[in-house]
Amino acid sequence: MSREKRKAEHILLGSVLPPGPLASGFDDVSLMHDCMPDLGLKDVSIATAVAGLKLMNPLIINAITGGSYLSTDLNRQIAGLAAASGCAMAVGSQYGAVRRDQNIESFKVVRKFNPRGIVFANMSAKSAPEEMRRAVEMLEADALQIHLNVAQEIVMPEGDRDFSGYLKNIEAVCQNSSVPVIVKETGCGICAKRMAQLIDVGVKLIDIGGAGGTNFLAIEAARRSDRVFDEILGWGIPTVITILETRLLKEGASEVIASGGIASGLDMAKALALGASAVGMAGCILRKILEQGFGAALEEIKSELELLRNIMLLTGASRVSELKKVPLLFKGETYQQLACRGHDLRTLAQRR
Ligand SMILES: Cc1cc2nc3c(=O)[nH]c(=O)nc-3n(C[C@H](O)[C@H](O)[C@H](O)COP(=O)(O)O)c2cc1C
Repeated sequence: MSREKRKAEHILLGSVLPPGPLASGFDDVSLMHDCMPDLGLKDVSIATAVAGLKLMNPLIINAITGGSYLSTDLNRQIAGLAAASGCAMAVGSQYGAVRRDQNIESFKVVRKFNPRGIVFANMSAKSAPEEMRRAVEMLEADALQIHLNVAQEIVMPEGDRDFSGYLKNIEAVCQNSSVPVIVKETGCGICAKRMAQLIDVGVKLIDIGGAGGTNFLAIEAARRSDRVFDEILGWGIPTVITILETRLLKEGASEVIASGGIASGLDMAKALALGASAVGMAGCILRKILEQGFGAALEEIKSELELLRNIMLLTGASRVSELKKVPLLFKGETYQQLACRGHDLRTLAQRR
């Protein structure tokens, strides 16, 4: 099957398949209420920064597409959403565009409709540093996402089977990149050990891409008629757990973008309180655009960001950085898994 046809199938399946079966864990986390926040809504700022890039708000419209017949229009709409909402955005993998000059217009359209916004390029971890440089140049990108998608490749019949040498390649990219490098999982999460190695080789920012949202194993399994892969559809590290893996690193060692099943302003607030500096959302925005159009998607983004501001007020946090001091309570399976992994949940519950 052609790369272009596969990308189009990802969009169509990604917009209809439900998240899961693993839960992101956000339902197992509560933020402590503050009955006297001593703030007005006007005092609450949702501005943030990642790898030195100033963001008007913490929501990044995460990598979805490029390179298929559906992509030009979709990227035009995503670029318009990012420009109108002040969100940063990423494009989908530019691998085909860089290697084979395929559908370059489906990426270039982004800068036409979002000329001054923060835009992330996106390439596979197997691409050479020179290819990554061309991906950044194609978009005049502000940062480069390098995606990790081993589980997806394994389920894809035409997928890669050799994943050796990624860390060395990422190190070479970091040494040659003119923009910050973001290493990003695509729905299976990143453990503390791998985060530490990525930071050691020069990665400034990690998008932990946990399980519980869009499930690429399920998308690839749905494209196959010979095998269902039921046994491994729940593979991966749930989003809440993979965000907290950063706590096992040296203090301040990493900056994190949280993604994987972020569906509301409440999820955003929890992800930021867990330690992320920004959040990524892909599947929810894709579904809104395809089901209800550009206007509804823009309203949804604005309304979830407003909910985030209201929740910050309810926790007494006037800045995103202050959310990181709000006490967090854990329950259920997430509590059990975090305890098994040795996370100090009492400190998180008793802070401030
Ligand atoms: C249709 C579709 C295509 C995607 N393509 C890419 C891609 O090319 N590169 C990438 O890094 N992530 C890609 N992703 C993954 C998302 O950026 C994100 O990591 C993942 O969907 C989890 O976030 P979510 O639960 O908010 O959807 C894609 C997601 C969807 C829904």
